[in-house]
Amino acid sequence: MLTPEIESLIARLPKAELHLHIEGSLEPEMLFALAERNAVTIPFDTVEAVRAAYSFSNLQDFLDIYYQGMSVLQTERDFYDLTWAYLERAKADAVRHVEIFFDPQGHTERGIALETVLNGIDSALKAAETRLGITSRLIMCFLRHLSEEEAEATLDQALPHLDRIHGVGLDSSELGHPPAKFERVFARARALGLHVTAHAGEEGPPAYVREALDLLKVERIDHGNRALEDPALVHRLARDGMTLTVCPLSNLRLCVIDRIEDSPVRRMLDLGLKVTVNADDPAYFGGYINDNFRAVAAALDLTADQLVALAKNSFAGSFLPEAEIARHLSAIDEAARG
Ligand code: ADE
Ligand code: ZN
Repeated sequence: MLTPEIESLIARLPKAELHLHIEGSLEPEMLFALAERNAVTIPFDTVEAVRAAYSFSNLQDFLDIYYQGMSVLQTERDFYDLTWAYLERAKADAVRHVEIFFDPQGHTERGIALETVLNGIDSALKAAETRLGITSRLIMCFLRHLSEEEAEATLDQALPHLDRIHGVGLDSSELGHPPAKFERVFARARALGLHVTAHAGEEGPPAYVREALDLLKVERIDHGNRALEDPALVHRLARDGMTLTVCPLSNLRLCVIDRIEDSPVRRMLDLGLKVTVNADDPAYFGGYINDNFRAVAAALDLTADQLVALAKNSFAGSFLPEAEIARHLSAIDEAARG
């Protein structure tokens, strides 16, 4: 149970969202609207049938449906509408800065040009800065179930657009696709001045988190749950102030945890880790960022100070310049005073 004070604090705390796949914000209503607009056939008759299909036993179960859902995204306007809908929703949750992921290979392999995807997403991000006061960074993820050569080709395609792409990430099926597989393409991305982050330790073992740090030289770990199985790794992550972008409702819906009470958020805070709370794929996992905050605050009995720490970690772990981070941290202190 949440007290009204904690509810109100969560609602007003300024936040950065650091782990959000834009394609995972495709709500069933928009799935239908875009299917109709683009004359794409989808295997569902109603919004209720879509939601009923969102029952997953593991990450792969979800990914199969997630990639299928992308088939309705065809034009620049589709990517704009998708991104704008997310940003408006984020605004309602007091999100002030977003660093969103997109999966170029999920689109280029369907014959959609990278430029189409990028133009749509980027123009919504630019509009959000002026109309919603939300700043942003865009992170291009490589699909780890594909080869490193395919990731290299994706990076090649992105070269003319690096003014609009700020970083690279690594997502999709984790087990059997360790970070080591992408060591060279990440080295090239870093040499190009791109920020680097990777999903690790969602389903994969602590060794994958170590590889992400040692071989990919990531600046953040996305998820990182299973790092907790390795005390020496926890010590290292805490010592280095590494940001972990945890996604509680995603973890629950993908059976990474059995109950929301098993979310690692509080344990990570207690261990001195820079944990953040994020939505991952909100349309599929039943909640946006504040839903995630409320779920862990209630289940883990988080204090106001812990919620403030989570919000501060989100800006401190962002790719914003220090002066902007400092401004957001002051705004959090102000919001916390009520
Ligand atoms: N792609 C979209 N969401 C993902 C997740 N939670 N893990 C890995 N790949 C993803
Ligand atoms: Zn993710």
